[in-house]
Amino acid sequence: MSNIGSYEERIRDFSWSISEKELGYNPGGIINIGWLCSDRICELGKAQKTGLIWENASGVVKKFTYNDIRLASNTIGQFLRDLGIKPEDRICLFMDKIPELYLGFLGILKIGAIAQPLFSAFGDESLFIRLENAWTRAIITQKKHLPKIRKILDKMPFLEFIIIVDQDPLKPLQSREIAFDLKNIPKVEVFEICPTRAESPSVLHYTSGTTGQPKGVKHVHYSIISQYLTSKWVLDLQDDDIYWCTADPGWVTGTSYGIIGAFSNGVTQCVLDAGFSAESWYRFIEKYRITMWYSAPTAIRSLMKAGDEIINKFDLSSLRHLASVGEPLNPEAVIWSEKVFGKPFLDTYWQTETGSIMISNYPGMKIKPGSMGKPFPGITATVVSPDTYESFDVPGKIGLIALKPGWPSMMRMYWNNEETYKNKFRNGWYLPGDRSSIDTDGYFWFVGRDDDVINTGGHLVSPFEVESALLEHPAVAESAVVSKPDFVNMEVVKAFVSLKPGYQPSKELDLEIMNFVRKKLSPLAMPQEIEFMDSLPKTRSGKIMRRILHAREWGEEVGDTSTLEDDDK
Ligand code: WTA
Repeated sequence: MSNIGSYEERIRDFSWSISEKELGYNPGGIINIGWLCSDRICELGKAQKTGLIWENASGVVKKFTYNDIRLASNTIGQFLRDLGIKPEDRICLFMDKIPELYLGFLGILKIGAIAQPLFSAFGDESLFIRLENAWTRAIITQKKHLPKIRKILDKMPFLEFIIIVDQDPLKPLQSREIAFDLKNIPKVEVFEICPTRAESPSVLHYTSGTTGQPKGVKHVHYSIISQYLTSKWVLDLQDDDIYWCTADPGWVTGTSYGIIGAFSNGVTQCVLDAGFSAESWYRFIEKYRITMWYSAPTAIRSLMKAGDEIINKFDLSSLRHLASVGEPLNPEAVIWSEKVFGKPFLDTYWQTETGSIMISNYPGMKIKPGSMGKPFPGITATVVSPDTYESFDVPGKIGLIALKPGWPSMMRMYWNNEETYKNKFRNGWYLPGDRSSIDTDGYFWFVGRDDDVINTGGHLVSPFEVESALLEHPAVAESAVVSKPDFVNMEVVKAFVSLKPGYQPSKELDLEIMNFVRKKLSPLAMPQEIEFMDSLPKTRSGKIMRRILHAREWGEEVGDTSTLEDDDK
């Protein structure tokens, strides 16, 4: 029996108070994600239950009971508090998927500070932009990431502490650096948890837009009301589940469902801190008898590409329930997973700003492969006209996805950017920036994004950020960045570049520029292809026309370029 039971019944008399009651939250009272994800689970009698099983690429395994998680997060919280970290200070987590990332996240929330997780593959420029925007006071990291931080340190007077979780005791520390070794520090048994309330800020996640710098999405402690219940009803987390969320907590899926949803439901979750290979993923499922697997279309397509034969080498019979997020899940992937795992991947749709699943397929509900499913109970979702922002009543008509604001995990603000935040609302709707249609049965069918943001392998990349990085290369005069189709990643980054006088296109220059972007931004943002042009197509006033280049890559009609040339908006 699934947790949700009947979707139809759940929507009929839904109230978020269901989740509030289950989590023991009294409206107006104290609510703290760190406490709900560790101390509360211990109080429920699961102190000795394994909460986290971690394995890395070399096969090292670490296990933590819920009591270990409680003590470790207390200890990290105390350490930060002793440094003088105050509620609402921003603390960046800049680590691979090591246990300290999960435990540190909860520790930060326990003292009322704001956790700012950043993808550890970010280069110095990506890191700097986000730390500067948030005026981050401390960063928790591993020694392997120090060179990137040291490179930008002079530009960051606000960053007071660089806390290194694996510092070699014999190596000298540099300015602002502090060693913190969870293994060798006395565990804090009794800890005063900050009495945060529903609207106290909790997490700051950065997401990319088409123009301008990345936006800091501010969430609050009350978000757990959504994350807990969606984990229970969509991911169907049950007491004896062994759960694997493949996302990195540098991105929202890795925190909302890889930390908060999992631990607040008190399940055992596994983390594989290693690169992707079909073999190692299947081995991981077999070894830990994973029952619930939350992953992403790019990973599923990569597994499809690896072929079906390899699957027969493993016992994957433990799998009970599968779900996916981040990009369109193509019908072939749903059908394939049903064939090889005996279960379809259920598509779920949401974004950093929504904090939790908005539209989804549910256990027991009829699946239409290729559809994102229906709104979560308590979520009012529709498709509106891009001109009037009125809801379309006609099935099949493509418009903008629109959500009625007011669910617990909705972002509360873009950090220091109220104008952009306000711009996301029209006619009483929150607009996530995606296009879709709704069929006669109420199922949503994703069509595409309503902006130029590139979704590569489920990760959003801003063309603006890549173009800016390209322009910093000495050879580059002009740049335009668009997506191009790719079987596995759905989209990859492609750059068009014109060179400054004295530079000639060459294979070496190609690689040099790619590498330049990879180091500055990240491997995700690195162009997979660079096309050199004498000059880029521009409007009369000199604005580069990305749309023409995009249409060319996707084999679409460019349309009337004479109007495009005048289009200087
Ligand atoms: C896209 C990730 C199609 C969409 C949780 C959204 C999807 C953006 C789906 C958010 C899906 C997410 N089908 N597209 N099931 N899920 N997207 O903020 O464009 O990293 O706005 O959050 O990914 O990406 P974000």
